[in-house]
Amino acid sequence: MKRILLSAVVVSSLAVAAYGFDASATWTDQCAKCHGADGKGETKMGKKLSIKDYTTAEAQASFTDVEGVKALKEGTKDKNGKIRMKAIEGMTDADAQAMVKFFRGLKK
Ligand code: HEC
Repeated sequence: MKRILLSAVVVSSLAVAAYGFDASATWTDQCAKCHGADGKGETKMGKKLSIKDYTTAEAQASFTDVEGVKALKEGTKDKNGKIRMKAIEGMTDADAQAMVKFFRGLKK
């Protein structure tokens, strides 16, 4: 756990330096309620939505970086058109890319 926190801090300071955007703070504010702080999706929302455990290689391999950016900017829907992950408001391409990079770092 300590290692996860430490790498989150490192990743976030890199992201801030490169983009002026704090991926780690955004994660805590806007993503952890569904995905869990550690990315395992073991939250109430995560269970309700059957969110994958994104610390696994399989789940990380289930989407491309481009799809990840699209999910953040446009959200995702199930096959019946019901929203699963909402679009994150105000995400620029660079923010979304930094966010996906951070998300990749959740993998153990
Ligand atoms: C309302 C709950 C919710 C929130 C909040 C949320 N997500 Fe998701 N996220 C999901 C679900 C559900 C999926 C699985 C996609 C699907 O099944 O349609 C997902 C999938 C993803 C994926 C994989 C994309 C793909 O195409 O499979 C990424 C990357 C991601 N989330 C990043 C984030 C980030 C970063 C944030 C915060 C900025 C965030 N999510 C906030 C529910 C959420």
